[in-house]
Amino acid sequence: QVRSTRETGHQGFPIPDGVYAEKVLSVKHYTDRLFSFRISRPAAFRFRSGEFVMIGLPNAEKPVFRAYSIASPSWDEELEFYSIKVPDGPLTEHLQKIQPGDTVLLRKKSVGTLVNDALIPGKRLWLFSTGTGIAPFVSVIRDPETYEKFEQVILCHTCREADELTYGYEVVEATKSDPLIGEDATAKLVHYATTTREETASMGRITDLILSGKLFSDLGLPPLDPAMDRGMICGSMDFLKDTKLILEKAGLSEGANSNPGEFVVERAFVD
Ligand code: A2P
Repeated sequence: QVRSTRETGHQGFPIPDGVYAEKVLSVKHYTDRLFSFRISRPAAFRFRSGEFVMIGLPNAEKPVFRAYSIASPSWDEELEFYSIKVPDGPLTEHLQKIQPGDTVLLRKKSVGTLVNDALIPGKRLWLFSTGTGIAPFVSVIRDPETYEKFEQVILCHTCREADELTYGYEVVEATKSDPLIGEDATAKLVHYATTTREETASMGRITDLILSGKLFSDLGLPPLDPAMDRGMICGSMDFLKDTKLILEKAGLSEGANSNPGEFVVERAFVD
């Protein structure tokens, strides 16, 4: 009996129940530690911009699944992801080798707090990220609802080295020339990218730049104000903790899907 690759995956293991088996459409490597990829989107798969989903590979009887933020917006026909490559990481060790045509498994339900619904209305939306924590925000900045809700959207991204900022630069440029949201993004989206371990024009941890006030003087914006500013935070645990504290000190309070607030927090994917 011949089974299709859809049923068996590319390594001959059966596709588990309750997951979608999707095709890899493209892969792009940014550094030896970072890559993005796009897969087909199942017609029935719905999500809100900023959410994450569990993904895996059909390379074992019981595949390893990991949480991945969906980097494409909810209207996109494809699903985009941005990933770190962890040496010996149970999933990324294999995932970093995917090629167009390969199969990726996708659990059917997406979840997450980095969504517009979890924030009360405001004037400015601050998106604070480090490393692959930019992924959910790459979805949020491509959603028209973000620009309906906010007058200004500031995407902050801090990485160790300049190469690690490339994905963010590319996406922001593509967003500003997109036929659907390009006009809004050009008028409202600001990208503030910094490095901490390689000399570039803009340096420093975003937390330090908030505390020193340099972030605001660089952008010509007033300091954080709970009446105006809303935030989303995504990165390492220490980054979340430190940034959350800074926002709370500025008078903003944390929200959730069930209880929208002035900022929301979510840990970035780590293998
Ligand atoms: P730094 O180089 O000063 O540690 P990592 O790869 O370790 O997750 O770090 C990604 C980026 O996030 C780095 O630029 C790092 O700065 C920065 N970073 C790490 N921890 C924090 C934190 N607690 N607050 C602000 N930035 C942080």
